[in-house]
Amino acid sequence: MDKVQSYIQRNQKRFLDELLEWLTIPSISADSKYKGDVAKAAAFIADKLKTAGAENVEITPTAGHPVVYGEKILDPALPTVLVYGHYDVQPPDPLNLWESEPFVPVIKKTEIHPQGAIFARGSCDDKGQVYMHVKAFESMLANNALPCNIKFMIEGEEEVGSNNLGAYCRANKEKLTCDVILISDTSIIGNSTPSITTGLRGLSYVEVEVTGPNRDLHSGVYGGAVANPCNILCDMIASLHDENRHITIPGFYEDVEVVSEDERKEMNKAPFDLEDYEKNLGIKEILGEKGYTTLERVSIRPTLDVNGIWGGYTGEGAKTVLPAKASAKISMRLVPHQDPDKITQLFKYHFEKIAPPYVTVKVMEHHGGEPVVTPTDTPEYKAAHMAMEKTFGKAPIPKREGGSIPIVALFEKVLGVKSVLMGFGLDTDALHSPNEHFGLFNFYKGIETIPYFYSYYADLKK
Ligand code: BES
Ligand code: MN
Ligand code: MN
Repeated sequence: MDKVQSYIQRNQKRFLDELLEWLTIPSISADSKYKGDVAKAAAFIADKLKTAGAENVEITPTAGHPVVYGEKILDPALPTVLVYGHYDVQPPDPLNLWESEPFVPVIKKTEIHPQGAIFARGSCDDKGQVYMHVKAFESMLANNALPCNIKFMIEGEEEVGSNNLGAYCRANKEKLTCDVILISDTSIIGNSTPSITTGLRGLSYVEVEVTGPNRDLHSGVYGGAVANPCNILCDMIASLHDENRHITIPGFYEDVEVVSEDERKEMNKAPFDLEDYEKNLGIKEILGEKGYTTLERVSIRPTLDVNGIWGGYTGEGAKTVLPAKASAKISMRLVPHQDPDKITQLFKYHFEKIAPPYVTVKVMEHHGGEPVVTPTDTPEYKAAHMAMEKTFGKAPIPKREGGSIPIVALFEKVLGVKSVLMGFGLDTDALHSPNEHFGLFNFYKGIETIPYFYSYYADLKK
């Protein structure tokens, strides 16, 4: 292990430079204009896997973006770890809010990252975290210190719902055989408060369209006499929460897992400073479901949020118009036992039902995903715990998180394998926001920690 760690030390600068190069490729999966760049990012990481020593590296096309695979099988008797991550990124907009170019990475110090952070789209989510694994793998292999077989599956459609990865897994079940799936695509509580993610929320995502008159109207000539779809959509959306911020869709909470008082107490022991939280976000006060703490609201409770809303005139200056249509994209984060398809149907039924007679509404379904909870009494969880304790000098805290990685539940179903969610980002790293960044401390801490995971895991599986 000493040799591995000193190899990492010696190659720090190169590891970073390579990541920075990868971050210049705008692999935006949501926007078809970038299909070529998404393919380039796949080719880049396939090439780096090869140079690191992976075998049978392949870039497999799917109906969407390609999946990159590579492996190093040392001995079928050893345990096999499958590393999953994604090389696609979120669109960078709104561009005007970036302080530097999203695809021209720069290193800047921040209050939270005094040693510097890499500012670029995808730096934390998830290229930076995927790259830690590739470099840890290189470092172990170069020093004859890889104690497990390893397989990499890096996809290009996570940010758009992983629509083709299920089919890829089913078609490649044999090839993907493994003992555990290792994922770094989540957060730790803080750089001096390590944590391991033990749960992720599920997702139901819909788009709604409200239509009124058969054309846009002069808002002076018709305003006040004809229902305005923008006004009506706002009314309808507002009615989806009550005064306690409970969601009003009948049946929405029916299957929600009831977390015991003991578990809630334990959960709330995790360090959390409300003042810091508000200050970081630039808000005076928080708002959420009555009866729950902030930590609970973003982990064990389901939510409903408008992700985007549009209609009428949004260009420069003023145009007096009563729009014919208004739309919104709405996401619902789900917790254990809630079924995404059922929730989508409940939403659709309710939203159509509350539509007043002077408009028509259409509800369209987007992607969804199931929530997951990962066990803590497994060799993989223990290995992650020991590895983090070793490198952070502090035992990591188990923590359920609010984000979603829908493919984790699918891995369990299709491959019959559990995942361990050992991420190294911070919630404040601005993932999906302008000025996304990833701490250098976090990048290097990840590379340092991962080899310990393999070593402890191999020992525990003996
Ligand atoms: N890496 C995130 C998920 C995440 C972030 C989990 C932080 C825990 C902490 C992932 O890339 C993501 O953004 N997932 C999407 C879901 C997908 C279906 C678009 C999400 O959570 O919105
Ligand atoms: Mn991610
Ligand atoms: Mn993401």
